[in-house]
Amino acid sequence: MCYIVPLYMCGIFAYTGRNGKDAAKVLLDGLVSLEYRGYDSAGIFTPESGAVKTPGAVLELKKKVPKGFKGKSGIAHLRWATHGEPTEINAHPHSDCEGEVWVAHNGIIENFKELKKKLSAKGHTFVSESDTEVLAHLIEEHLTILRRGSGVAKKDVFERAVLAALNEVRGTYGVAIQYKGEPEKLIAGRMGSPIVLGLGKKEHFIASDPSPILKHTKKVVFLNDGDVAVLTPKSHTIYKLSSELVNREPEELDWNAEEAQKGGYEHFMLKEVMEAPEVIENTLRGRVIAEKGLAKLGGLESVAKELEKIERIIIVACGTAYYAGLVGEYMLEEFAGIPVEVELGSEFRYRSPVLNQRTAVLAISQSGETADTLAAVREGKKKGALTLGIVNAVGSTIARETDAGVYNHAGPEISVVSTKALLSQLTALALLTMFLGRQRKMSAKIGKDIARELRNLPEKLEKILAWRAEVEKLAKKYAGTRDFMFIGRKYNYPIAFEGALKLKECSYVHAEGCGAGELKHGHLAMIFEDFPTVALVTKDSVYEKVFSNIQQVKARKGPVIAVATEGDEEIAKLADDVFYVPKTLEMLSPILNVVPLQLFAYYFARDKGLNVDRPRNLAKSVTVE
Ligand code: G6P
Repeated sequence: MCYIVPLYMCGIFAYTGRNGKDAAKVLLDGLVSLEYRGYDSAGIFTPESGAVKTPGAVLELKKKVPKGFKGKSGIAHLRWATHGEPTEINAHPHSDCEGEVWVAHNGIIENFKELKKKLSAKGHTFVSESDTEVLAHLIEEHLTILRRGSGVAKKDVFERAVLAALNEVRGTYGVAIQYKGEPEKLIAGRMGSPIVLGLGKKEHFIASDPSPILKHTKKVVFLNDGDVAVLTPKSHTIYKLSSELVNREPEELDWNAEEAQKGGYEHFMLKEVMEAPEVIENTLRGRVIAEKGLAKLGGLESVAKELEKIERIIIVACGTAYYAGLVGEYMLEEFAGIPVEVELGSEFRYRSPVLNQRTAVLAISQSGETADTLAAVREGKKKGALTLGIVNAVGSTIARETDAGVYNHAGPEISVVSTKALLSQLTALALLTMFLGRQRKMSAKIGKDIARELRNLPEKLEKILAWRAEVEKLAKKYAGTRDFMFIGRKYNYPIAFEGALKLKECSYVHAEGCGAGELKHGHLAMIFEDFPTVALVTKDSVYEKVFSNIQQVKARKGPVIAVATEGDEEIAKLADDVFYVPKTLEMLSPILNVVPLQLFAYYFARDKGLNVDRPRNLAKSVTVE
């Protein structure tokens, strides 16, 4: 297996107090409510007792922390995939050479390789594969310089060193940093990864979200990008990276811990749909060379030569990931010119598939643990195929057992129904299409067009999400409906099935996906005035065809909800309701079009009072065949 692994969500919790509380206990308890953010490894540090780290989640850490481990302050971390495998050595917090500076980090230091080289040349020794460790050494380097008679007061050197280091790193971070020389002081910084400060009585906190803080205080300050906060038990000061002081008013949070985990949203599903723009950015980060129209997929480099010779790809997946695979089939065949088949993980073995070394079996799986998909990978391996993965969960079985792959970087998906993972899978498939396409006949011009439009997606998704109240209204309008049809063609054919699946999973009503062209071969018989059709009819190469399919539905008095391209007035005359989405490339249109369907399923089920995040009879990760 060879995947390249950056960040992602991870949980940070740090504490400093002067009120007799045991920091170790506060931190370990707090980590429990952050566990949803990551659980592949965990660690804790206090200046009094040092660091304890372990693979696994909080329970493992609790078992490993020795009796008598204590402190008045400290930092703790739960990791979800950073650079390197989930081992004890790669777990956070990371330290400098002397074990004086300790850093818990969420994000990715993009220039860590060049910094590491520079610091190694100066004599720093690195023990892990983590990008975070570089930050600890960089701070150490600045501390050494500042302490060497720079005129900076002793009480200021730590914060000055941190500011200098953060000004040198590129990438994203949410950090909590501690220095043994000033054990009561904590420093937090934010650039792209959320950080919130908790302001208590003679105690202060740093966390990735307010959930571990709320039990102690409701008074919080959310940091903005570029903020650096210095905390002692009695004070908190916020600077900009330029050292300028910032005045940011605290707010009182009226949330409980669960609401805080959900970022204030009612359900994880909505929160995860709302994360769409960020998810696309994370999936794309560092992987698009826009000016050359190339995709850089580090996790595929080790098999790049084999991939040049691949003559066929079989995508294997289950559930939502299977629909991502179907969209991938259209992308890869149209733009990379490689024949693709998509197979349900649960069916693959029964076909007695004919495979050879020129076949790649590509597994798509959020969890990386779905038993049927895994069985398909093993079957592929047994028959000599190259096995690849598009996987979200780092270090999962599918990630480990495939020869190479691409990680999604979508962060943990908590809601059982998959939403943000799908967007990320579709984005990864577009990158894979560029990668394989440019190895073959795809022109630089097409590569550049795809690259440009991929970059535009987050902004377009922001727009769609800003219009979500429209979908909410639609869900109310159709609240009593028991049956729905979803239709789409070409790239949006699989999205019709995904729209129906979302609605079924969340609200237990009858919903069917149908290739729009197939309506007349059977499905049309069901249509009548109480059987609405959701039609994906964005402006693309099959627009006229779908438009005419909608006319067939209208002729049978079936109500139509259209997902259409902004500015399309014709569709508004035909459909009963229209939800507009911005225009994008046809191959990327599923990434935008699926979002209103996810929102529709969400609001429709929520209004029925159902537990949207945990639909009856379903599990997030199906590890039995
Ligand atoms: C379960 C989940 C689905 C998911 C499917 C595949 O059925 O409820 O949301 O799409 O498994 O999961 P995977 O982790 O392999 O993507």
